[in-house]
Amino acid sequence: MTTAQQAQNQISEDVHSYAEPTKAVARHLDLDIAVNFDTKTLSGTASYDIENLAKGNEIIFDTRGLQIEKVYLGDKQEETTFRLGESDKYLGQPLHITIKPETKRVTIVYKTSPDAAALQWLNPQQTAGKKHPFLFTQSQAILARTWIPIQDSPGIRITYSAKVQVPKELLAVMSAENPIEKNATGNYSFEMKQPIPSYLMALSVGDLVFSKVGAQTGIYAEPATIKAAAYEFAEMDKMLVAAEKLYGKYRWDRYDLLVLPPSFPFGGMENPRLTFVTPTVLAKDRSLTSLIAHELAHSWSGNLVTNATWDDFWLNEGFTVYFERRIMEELYGKSYADMLNVLGYQDLQNTLKELGETSEDTRLKLDLEGRDPDEGLTDIAYEKGNFFLQNIEQAVGRQKFDAFLNKYFNTFAFQTTNTDKFLEFLRTELIKGDEALAEKINIEGWVFSPGLPQDHVVPTSERFTKVEESYQAWKNGKPAAQLNTKDWSSHEWLHFIRMLPEQMSQQQLQDLDKAFNLTNSGNSEVLAAWFIHTIRNNYTTADKALETFLTNVGRRKFLVPIYKALAATPEGKKKALAIYAKARPNYHAVSTVTLDEMLK
Ligand code: BES
Ligand code: ZN
Repeated sequence: MTTAQQAQNQISEDVHSYAEPTKAVARHLDLDIAVNFDTKTLSGTASYDIENLAKGNEIIFDTRGLQIEKVYLGDKQEETTFRLGESDKYLGQPLHITIKPETKRVTIVYKTSPDAAALQWLNPQQTAGKKHPFLFTQSQAILARTWIPIQDSPGIRITYSAKVQVPKELLAVMSAENPIEKNATGNYSFEMKQPIPSYLMALSVGDLVFSKVGAQTGIYAEPATIKAAAYEFAEMDKMLVAAEKLYGKYRWDRYDLLVLPPSFPFGGMENPRLTFVTPTVLAKDRSLTSLIAHELAHSWSGNLVTNATWDDFWLNEGFTVYFERRIMEELYGKSYADMLNVLGYQDLQNTLKELGETSEDTRLKLDLEGRDPDEGLTDIAYEKGNFFLQNIEQAVGRQKFDAFLNKYFNTFAFQTTNTDKFLEFLRTELIKGDEALAEKINIEGWVFSPGLPQDHVVPTSERFTKVEESYQAWKNGKPAAQLNTKDWSSHEWLHFIRMLPEQMSQQQLQDLDKAFNLTNSGNSEVLAAWFIHTIRNNYTTADKALETFLTNVGRRKFLVPIYKALAATPEGKKKALAIYAKARPNYHAVSTVTLDEMLK
């Protein structure tokens, strides 16, 4: 591709970045930073190879809360002037750097702030080993700018190298080629040869060890967690094989996992070559590994072909959920994927109810201008996106759809995509003027309209039908202990618990708890769903377990509904605030931003 074509490809305007990539754009980053746990800061230099396309006298980077000390131009490090623009709550400040028409390299000397939103600094008590501190980053959606001065738009890709200095007893890992063990100096070097968008910049530092899974796959975790993780994720190699069979070669060399402490605010984050994952999927029975399939799938949908702006988030997540279910079907059969689809459909219905069926935020194509993108990134993108793609698959047949997706990933590999680009590809490659087919696919209804098209297919699951029978029997008075739940997976349990009536007697709750020991479940999904009922029905036997859960786990998807259920009554709200006061220091900024707002 020529430079002009590349520039053309990046012109989707991103309202969440100050960068003007059609004028001057970064192509490669050399990062050189020291990690200081005492001051909770990163400090060092970000040197960029840039292309001054417009031959003007300025390049703009995004920053938020960064201290910019000096800026140099060229290899000879000539000092230049810079200016930080006005600050916006979400977007931060543009960094305007004076350059020359021929400038090819810019070096920024900077320091992060101790409250940088992307960074979570954990004290030893907050780790599994309790002996060493821990640091991790979370850059998606627009938080990379809180730890690196960067053109922070998903439409701009860079390669990078990094030198990171950490305390000697710790290991550093990044979304790049990684070391597999500590060295004596605490200095680590990284290289990412494939161009990536800024939201995939990632770093973690801690007492980490590596355990090999397959030839191309492995796991990083604290020593205290590595064995459990190695058991839980033993099938990741099989997932990689299944994924490649579906959509073509894996383009990132290795695929490793990093298991984080429980305060990690997400289930998983698809940092290239090194997915970051919550320890709450360590269920001891490999029952929550669809999350790994999901993050792995992002190696195609998202990391390889990337949404140009956050308004097109469904192209990252909807495709990934579709792909995740296909991987799980390949590994565990259709009946397994069906369960995931039904649970996803329930999530979607809940989100539609919450947002309102006519809310503009329930369209696939979003309009997030003037807002924190994080606010608009809901289950709509994930599940409505997935069901739209399943709808296309049903309309054209699986074989054709797979060929189409293969071609899509190959055509746009290492580029950005947006809704229009995808729809154009869909029209030329698949619909090809067939009006009956266009009507079945119903682009207008799925992509640009709120809610769900009226004639959408509602997913069903045979395994869940059996769960529903058990549930009915219980509701009609059969004791819980007599239900046949022997072969139930996490998913069946989740379906059962979600079905339970809003109002239950203490006796009903006790009956369930005695039979299934739900309050002490080691499965985070089961536990989080059960707490909603114990809270609603004031089943105080679960209070202690609830408090332990809320003070340990920082995963926002669990915290939000639980705190919401608590806050629904005045006494509950009091409880919520008391627990939150204690637990808040354990949560990442991603979670506290949401919860502060909810509990104020
Ligand atoms: N990329 C997302 C996480 C994300 C989304 C971070 C938006 C910041 C902004 C990741 O792939 C994801 O979707 N994680 C899910 C798990 C998945 C199985 C649905 C999560 O964390 O719950
Ligand atoms: Zn995802």
